[in-house]
Amino acid sequence: MTVRDLLVAATEELERAGVPSPRVDAEWLLAHALGVSRTELYADGNEAPPQRERLFRELVARRAGREPLAYVLGEWGFRRLTLQVDPRVLIPRPETEVLVERCLELLAGRSEPTVLDIGVGSGAIALAIADEHPGATVVATDSSTDALAVARQNADRLGLPVELVEGPLFAGLQGPFDLVVANPPYVAPDEMDALPPEVAEHEPRSALIESGQTEEIADQALPRLVPGGSLALEVADGKADDVADLMRSLGYEEVAIGKDLAQRERVVDGRAPR
Ligand SMILES: C[S@@+](CC[C@H](N)C(=O)[O-])C[C@H]1O[C@@H](n2cnc3c(N)ncnc32)[C@H](O)[C@@H]1O
Repeated sequence: MTVRDLLVAATEELERAGVPSPRVDAEWLLAHALGVSRTELYADGNEAPPQRERLFRELVARRAGREPLAYVLGEWGFRRLTLQVDPRVLIPRPETEVLVERCLELLAGRSEPTVLDIGVGSGAIALAIADEHPGATVVATDSSTDALAVARQNADRLGLPVELVEGPLFAGLQGPFDLVVANPPYVAPDEMDALPPEVAEHEPRSALIESGQTEEIADQALPRLVPGGSLALEVADGKADDVADLMRSLGYEEVAIGKDLAQRERVVDGRAPR
């Protein structure tokens, strides 16, 4: 079959399966199977070699089973990085890129800051900060051995220096840190049913379902910050005001709320008193 015919057939299959963006996903999967970029797909109207066509059909079948595109591809873009991802880790989201942007603003003027990322997952936040603020010393933790293995693999492959520590929240970490950042689990258990199958059935529950991590991090970060150091948190849609109030009540100053690309309030940060 030609590239064009393969795309048409796959788009139809993905549409029947309820995939929200069937054409775009078909393009990503075909580009991956052929080892070309999405734009190169259209430059090449030729037949796909049979082996590549077989691989493409397997990838489309996985996506039609509502496996997330990122897991099927095995990699996902985050800021300037391409991270390897699989079901051991949450797929990095665009709103988390906004959190990193805010972290870089908070670190501006600090040439060699120490940074702690709680709940490192794939390594997205920690590695992006190490990449974009090269003077930073970045430590990152996770309670999931599996997630840490993925973060280690990404750090090694990208050649970015991040110290990885296994354990819950701040276990064994006293600081002081110039910045503590976290994208903690923030889905309420009773909200799981409302999530699309890509999330509810494939991403790790330990990365999704909240059990008080946001509140604990806000509480435990403050004594571990340098005077004027910052805590930056990604929060659930609709929760920014609550988290901002909590941080003020704990003693944080200059508490600010930031919006994601869709203008939803998703980032809250505040400073330790100077
Ligand atoms: C929402 S994911 C964020 C992953 C990554 N930082 C990102 O933004 O893509 C939350 C991560 O926190 C970890 N986690 C959950 N509870 C934790 C805890 N009590 N202590 C440390 N890590 C925890 C999970 O294993 C998961 O990797």
